[in-house]
Amino acid sequence: DESVAELVASRLRDIPDFPKPGVLFKDFTPLIADGPALGALVRDIADRYRDRVDVIVGIEARGFILGAAVAYELGLGMVPVRKAGKLPGETLRESYALEYGTAEIEVHNDAFEVGQRVLVIDDVLATGGTAEAACSLVERAGAEVAAIEVVLELAFLDGRSRLGDRTVNAILTV
Ligand code: PRP
Ligand code: MG
Repeated sequence: DESVAELVASRLRDIPDFPKPGVLFKDFTPLIADGPALGALVRDIADRYRDRVDVIVGIEARGFILGAAVAYELGLGMVPVRKAGKLPGETLRESYALEYGTAEIEVHNDAFEVGQRVLVIDDVLATGGTAEAACSLVERAGAEVAAIEVVLELAFLDGRSRLGDRTVNAILTV
């Protein structure tokens, strides 16, 4: 019986020099294109948080795919955290560092009820800047980050240290 981590490991594809020279990109499109693998991954995540969270946050872009599927599996709603300028309503905004320069993400300022327990989902935890900014948005909006769930953690970049004492779970760590 293949563990979910093994399933994920076997269906991530390494793409050298994407999006720029020297970066080894972990492409998860083969994973989500495989129906049984996607189902096993989504159920594995959902089972960890059943009755423990109230709403799911998916981080643009690949976090939307998993976030919506996990939310559906749990019978919960899904809130998108988007790149700045994409959400139509009033938003809260956070900046975070990229290798060169900064980026900004947003959430609708009325997306949560006070005290809601939020599961934040993304595909990859690298430096942790994106996840940290997403958690800050959730907390500024009055909700609580119950956990951060990612498919892949790049441990050598130590993104976890940016996330303080928040709970982080990675299906696969490299
Ligand atoms: C990638 C990845 C994570 C983030 C992780 O997204 O999908 O969201 O980087 O990096 P960090 O931990 O160093 O912040 P990217 O910014 O490439 O955007 P995309 O998901 O919209 O493609
Ligand atoms: Mg991303």
